Amino acid sequence: MPEIGLIAGSGIYEIPGLVIKKKKRIVTPFGKPSDDYRIVEINDVEIAFLPRHGSAHNIPPHRVNYRANIWGLKELGVKRIISVSAVGGISKEMKPGGIVIPDQVIDMTGGRNSTFYDGPEVVHIDFTEPYCPEIRKALIKAGKKTGIVLIKGGAYICTNGPRLESKAEIMAYKIMGADVVGMTAMPEASLARELEICFAGVSVVTNYAAGISRTKLTTTEVLKTMKSSTAKINMVLKECIIHIPSKRKCPCKDALKDSRMG
Ligand code: HPA
Repeated sequence: MPEIGLIAGSGIYEIPGLVIKKKKRIVTPFGKPSDDYRIVEINDVEIAFLPRHGSAHNIPPHRVNYRANIWGLKELGVKRIISVSAVGGISKEMKPGGIVIPDQVIDMTGGRNSTFYDGPEVVHIDFTEPYCPEIRKALIKAGKKTGIVLIKGGAYICTNGPRLESKAEIMAYKIMGADVVGMTAMPEASLARELEICFAGVSVVTNYAAGISRTKLTTTEVLKTMKSSTAKINMVLKECIIHIPSKRKCPCKDALKDSRMG
């Protein structure tokens, strides 16, 4: 059973050089995930890989069935998720081509199915630290070992999309403390927590956010930067897997403890 799940975003629909051992189609109580899960092997470790927007990239961020995607991974036996995504850079150090391991989240999404606990069971998970400290540590170590520069923290603000932001929105987000802006970290991160699955992000800065960039933002630019970062991301992921401890000692595994009402 794969214990590690990999969700990849725009520009990454497969991992080059990796053989798909099998494909798993799962239908969940919440509907269909974005695609079949690909079971691959990295360094003799089984990984369940899922292209977030479908292999033909036909599911926009606000339409992704996040609940089905995360539930499907749980059904496969996944205990840890690494989520790769494209983001726009807001703060100074977040330049195109940079790779960030976020440590905080601000949720600006709306209208997404964002919980497994829609009643009658009422659960409030702790989300003080939205990302798993153990996987973040493994990712940062992987950066050091491979010599790939990673930015070791930052607040990811998640917008609903699919449109990009206005200049004033980005100015406001900057004041709120956001470092990067993307459209998919939420509710992925909190849904994983609700199932006691560890979750960490690898965010590639594909462009300067609106108004920080002097030019018009384009999807072409996003995909181009993502593509040119793929080799680096693959190296970090392969190395990271070696450094994920086999036994979980992080708080994520006990997320549901004392979180239920009544
Ligand atoms: N805004 C929101 N999402 C994004 C961006 C952006 O500038 N770039 C890549 N994903």
